Order: sequence, then C-alpha cells, then structure tokens
Amino acid sequence: MDATEPGLGDTGRDGAHLPEHVRRNRQLWDSRQGAWFGKRARAQWAAEPHWGVWRIPQAELPVFPDDLAGRDLIDLGCGTGYVCAWAARAGARPVGIDNSERQLATARAMQHDFGLEFPLLHGNAERVPYPDASFDIAISEHGAIGWCDPYRWIPEAARLLRPGGELVFVRNSTLLTLCVPESGAAAARLRRPQFGLYRVESEDGTAVNFQLPHGPMVRLLRDSGFVLEDLLEVQAPENASTEYDYVDLEWARQWPSAEVWKARRSPR
Ligand SMILES: C[S@@+](CC[C@H](N)C(=O)[O-])C[C@H]1O[C@@H](n2cnc3c(N)ncnc32)[C@H](O)[C@@H]1O
Repeated sequence: MDATEPGLGDTGRDGAHLPEHVRRNRQLWDSRQGAWFGKRARAQWAAEPHWGVWRIPQAELPVFPDDLAGRDLIDLGCGTGYVCAWAARAGARPVGIDNSERQLATARAMQHDFGLEFPLLHGNAERVPYPDASFDIAISEHGAIGWCDPYRWIPEAARLLRPGGELVFVRNSTLLTLCVPESGAAAARLRRPQFGLYRVESEDGTAVNFQLPHGPMVRLLRDSGFVLEDLLEVQAPENASTEYDYVDLEWARQWPSAEVWKARRSPR
C-alpha cells in the first residue's frame, strides 16, 4: 500500500467517523492560525534539531536515535513537519501524519520553501493507513503523546514498528500536568489528583489532552510489546527561555517540566 495515494488520509471527509476527542482536537488545531504559527514553523525548519519548550539541542537532549540514515521514521502528530525535516536531512525516510489540515498546509508550504519532500498524511495517529512493520522509528514530540488516547496510539505505534524498532516521545511531565492551572503558569502547588489521571479536558471543552502517569504508562508500553529503555526527565537549562505561558524557568529549574520516553519494540 502506498500511503501517499489520495484517499488514504482523511482529506475530503467530514470526520464523522473519528472518535469524539479526535474531532474536537481537529477543530481546535484547524482554528489555530496566525502569524505566530507560520513564523515558528519557519524558524523550526531552519534550525538544527532541538526539543520541547526549552529548545534543548539534540546534543544535550538525545531524542533522535544516533543513526537516522536510511531508516523509515513516522512522526505521529507531526504538526508543521519540522521533526520530519530534521530527520530527512539526517538521511532518514520520514512520513508525517497529523489531524489538522491547517497544520499540514503550513508543513507543505515549508516543504516548498525549503525544497524538501516527504509524505504528509491527514489523519488520526491512532489509526494510521500503513501496513504492519513499516517503520524503524516512531516519534512524537508533544503530538500524539499529548492529544491521542494512549490506549489507542501506543498499540498502533507498536503495530507500525518493525521488531527492534524504536518509539520515542517527548511529553509534558506528569508533575507539570498536576501543577498547571487552567490558564497561566504552573506553581508549586498540586491542582489535581494523580490517581485516575488520564484524559484532561480544558474548561471550555475545546481541547482534550491525555496524560498517563508513570505506572500506567509503563504497563501500557509493556502490554503493547515494548521494552522501556530510558526515561529522561528534562531540567530547563540555565538562562533558557520559552514562548509558552504554562511553565516558567523558575519552576522548570526545580522540577522536570518534560519527559523523553524511549522504548523498543520487542521481537514478535
Ligand atoms: C503541539 S503540536 C506538536 C507537533 C509539533 N511537534 C509542533 O510542535 O508543532 C500537536 C499536534 O498534534 C496534532 N494532533 C492532535 N490530535 C491528533 C491525532 N489524533 N492524530 C494526529 N495528530 C494529532 C495537532 O493537529 C497538532 O498539529
């Protein structure tokens, strides 16, 4: 199957077949636009690989595996496609999938401006139109990991990976999720219980996020056929800055605001 064929993504369909949280998040991301997104996409595409809200260089926060050359990689919730662009420049064969046509439109514009091409699919990362064992690496930087149901997308990532393939994701830490208010920055105060943490909705109902605490996440990875290899708890570098308002440097110097999880698909 060639997933670049028209019709394999969700383009041209009304989305009625999608799970409710996917429909809501599609509406949200399709409504997010404006100069900030375009400017950020261009800056990300132009830059060397770096990660998360603190923009930590790959040399200091090794999210990509060492050798990307010749490897098939899928970015689940690719947004404006810059992770795929970085992977392509390192010799990988990337594919991006995203739920938002608007994000993908920006990604396509960047492909044109930077002279790089790779397949971009419009669809739900919980159900990807590629055959089993199509990829060596599945990655998500605040994409599927924050916006898809983990009980759907992690088994789907396992299906997409070849035996020995690598799953890497960068997400907000569970501690940050516990401390972050509806608007504004996290403070040194727990605002929600950890037990039962899973689906987190914004008060206005426009966003549905997911955050599994460590125990359930470890069990889900194991039950999906992964072996957990590393969990990097990210401390913001001294003097780092961020454009996001939900965490500040003082907080992120003391507690991990983000986590990088690395797991390997065990042989079938
Ligand atoms: C914070 S962005 C992360 C992407 C990229 N790393 C970035 O920072 O631009 C979250 C992305 O996840 C996408 N997304 C949300 N739900 C999704 C789903 N069910 N399947 C695929 N992508 C999804 C959104 O459309 C959005 O582009």
